[in-house]
Amino acid sequence: MKKPRLYSGMQPSADSLQIGNYIGALLQWRQLQTSYDAFFSVVDLHALTQPNNPEELREKTRRTAAQYIAAGIEPSQSTLYVQSHVRAHAELAWVLSTITGYGEAGRMTQFKDKSARYGTDSTSVGLFTYPVLMAADILLYQSDVVPVGDDQKQHVELTRDLAERFNKRFGEAFTVPIPVIQKDTARIYDLQNPTSKMSKSAESDAGVLWMLDDPAKSAKKIMRAVTDNEGVVRFDRENKPGVSNLLTIYAALTGRQIATIEDEYAGRGYGDFKKGLAEVVVAEFEPVRGRALELLDDPAELDRILAANAARADAVADATLADVYEKVGLLRRV
Ligand code: TYM
Repeated sequence: MKKPRLYSGMQPSADSLQIGNYIGALLQWRQLQTSYDAFFSVVDLHALTQPNNPEELREKTRRTAAQYIAAGIEPSQSTLYVQSHVRAHAELAWVLSTITGYGEAGRMTQFKDKSARYGTDSTSVGLFTYPVLMAADILLYQSDVVPVGDDQKQHVELTRDLAERFNKRFGEAFTVPIPVIQKDTARIYDLQNPTSKMSKSAESDAGVLWMLDDPAKSAKKIMRAVTDNEGVVRFDRENKPGVSNLLTIYAALTGRQIATIEDEYAGRGYGDFKKGLAEVVVAEFEPVRGRALELLDDPAELDRILAANAARADAVADATLADVYEKVGLLRRV
């Protein structure tokens, strides 16, 4: 029986992924890749919406791919590739942009936040159409499911709307995908500012746990994480966002229930709890870091893996694009 399709991706916007990417996305990817025909991309075209040093962007792209593999994505089983290696992404994005409303794109909250932060003159048209490119990523592969953290939910909903609109207007070309969001871990917060999402582009480094960081540094950041004055290890998102975030990370990495962790630390202080969490994080990331650095030692081999996977992606994407071109009325080149 044919496996259902899965699609997801991450931006190569930093030298390392952060623990929110790992818990919110990569853990699900790893788990789902055996039961789905999975496509995982490093979305370098999306990363162009931020200022980049060209050499650094290339390096971050390789580093992101290496971290996917190091975290357990199997490139012989799943199609792990670089978005810009498959031309169809940019081409389908153009077609989809012609059926996207200007107001509809303007309602995307990530765009609204970013454009408010930087001002309209520093906000590019690329940032505005970013979700349309994301829709192209997903729709090219006839994806059934899209596992993401909750910050991407609105973009997947736009993708569904565009797929349905296109199918209705031009005839069935796309599978309408559903977002898969792990409720409890869909949002990991900044350790210093536990009401804001942890992000690769955070202004301060102190609240971000990087997968490739020196373990001692990550342990130190956990010991310094913002908590509260109550001194009780108890989950209460509203009143104890710092402790609740640490409990979420602890539970996600160990597979244990939050209540069991609360019991374990009952009557003990935050120091003990943080030390326990630091050990869990270091034990989880140490082998991932080692494997990623090993892969990065041989960039030619990594590039070869990415090229072979891009060829696989091309075949699927080209078939969808040809169908779309036919349906919208573009003249075929003979
Ligand atoms: P990006 O690169 O910002 O994040 C990659 C994945 O990590 C999740 N994530 C988090 N989950 C929980 N807590 C956090 N603090 C946290 N921070 C990030 C994100 O939800 C995401 O799943 N637009 C996408 C990339 C993209 C994409 C796609 C994803 C492009 N095309 C097609 C899926 C399908 C993005 O910027 O993710």
